[in-house]
Formats: sequence, C-alpha cells, structure tokens
Amino acid sequence: MIPNKALVLGVFALTAVTSLCGGEDIEADHVGSFGISMYQSYGPSGQYTFELDGDEMFYVDLEKKQTEWRLPLFTEFTSFDPQGGLREIATAKHNLGILIKSSNSTPATNKVPEVTVFPKSPVMVGEPNTLICVVDNIFPPVINITWLTNGHSVTEGVSETSFLSKSDHSFLKIAYLTFLPSEDDIYDCKVEHWGLDEPLLKHWEPEIPAPMSELTETVVCALGLTVGLVGIVVGTIFIIRGLRSGSASRHLGPL
Ligand SMILES: *[C@@H]1O[C@H](CO)[C@@H](O)[C@H](O)[C@H]1NC(C)=O
Repeated sequence: MIPNKALVLGVFALTAVTSLCGGEDIEADHVGSFGISMYQSYGPSGQYTFELDGDEMFYVDLEKKQTEWRLPLFTEFTSFDPQGGLREIATAKHNLGILIKSSNSTPATNKVPEVTVFPKSPVMVGEPNTLICVVDNIFPPVINITWLTNGHSVTEGVSETSFLSKSDHSFLKIAYLTFLPSEDDIYDCKVEHWGLDEPLLKHWEPEIPAPMSELTETVVCALGLTVGLVGIVVGTIFIIRGLRSGSASRHLGPL
C-alpha cells in the first residue's frame, strides 16, 4: 500500500550514548542507548527503547502502554515504569507536530528495506530450530513482517524485536519463527513496506541432501565394482609380466 496523502514522519532520537571506553588496554567498548523515543504520525505509533550494544533491552509501546522486555529473564533483575517512556513519546509527538507545521507537511522519503533469512542453528531434520528474518534499512518505521510456511501464513511460534535504531536513522527489525525442520516444508519471510512496490517474499528451505535414487545407487555400485575388477586384472597382468621379465633377466645375466 502506498499512502498518497502526505505522510509526515519525524523521528526523534533523544539518545543518551554512554561509551565505556577508556585506556588502550580495554578490550571491549560498549554503547548503551538508553531512551530512544520515536513517534510517527501514521497510525500513529511510537516506542521508547533501551538498547545495549545494538541489542534491545526493552521497549515501551505507545499502544500497549507497558514495558516489553526482550528476554523474560531481565524482569528478574530490574524493572522500568512504562509511564516514563510514555512521557518521552508524548514529547516526541509534540515536537513532531511543530516540525510538521514548519516543514509544510513534507512527507518522509521511503527507503527500500533489505531482507535476509537464515536459521539460528545448523539444520537437522526433526531438531527444533529458529528461522531469523533480519530486515534492515527500514524507513519510515511502519512495516509488516510475517511468516509463510508452504505458502500459508503462520502466527504461532513467531516473535519480533522492536524497531532497533541505526546510526543513519533508519531502523532494523528482526523477526523469528520457531520450526521443526523437515524435508518437505518451505518458508518465506514476507515484508510489506511502502518502499516496496509489492510485498517481498524472502524464501528459505532446508538444504537436506536428497537421498540417492535406486538407479543411481545401482550405477555407482556397478561402476565401483567394474573399476575394482579391472584393477585386479590389470594388476595381475603387471605382476605376471614383472615375474617373467625378472626371470628373463636372470637368464640373460652377466656370464
Ligand atoms: C500492514 O498490514 C495491514 C493489515 O493487513 C495493512 O492495512 C497495512 O497497509 C500494511 N502495512 C504496510 C506498510 O503495507
């Protein structure tokens, strides 16, 4: 769907970047982006995010109005009052309103998202695994990422990150699908975005070596047997020749 009415969008990144870098002896540098507020006028939607080294810690969603931790485990150590996030989103909304007016409602420019699909672990038939769909270069942050199994849309075993911030002010989103690899199933990560003329289907299927057909097996077996037999015959001929020439040279030896 391409919005023909002016889509106005602004992204406010109130980013507190904490860089824990110091002397040259320190091996790892870390970047924490604590409190990235984003609000966009389509929908509208907004989020407030905490990130560490490019990974999402949690986000507060304007619609859900609650803190969504990336891993349930995090809630055992800490908590975050969603009201704090909602206040920041409200500020972003206010500022966006001002910019929309001062820019004469200039619409945001759509970027073309880049999609990559791969499994989390090496694929083994019958061993539960997770498919990962990385959608990069997202702008504006309005997107649908869904999964298809054998051409049918699936809603179970799916999850996704919030919009993760990028240094060029586009966004990254990662979608997941848990699946049980089998030889027959094929998968697609379906991405809908205004930067695409039509939904993009990124295909993935397990690379399981096809079992040899019976004919191939017979041919390979016959070939092997033939090569073996020829080897024995040729070898025998050489041995006999060798023995003969050996005895001949003994007859012809120096007198
Ligand atoms: C996402 O899906 C909804 C519901 O099908 C649709 O209305 C909307 O236009 C889609 N968004 C994009 C960016 O295509």
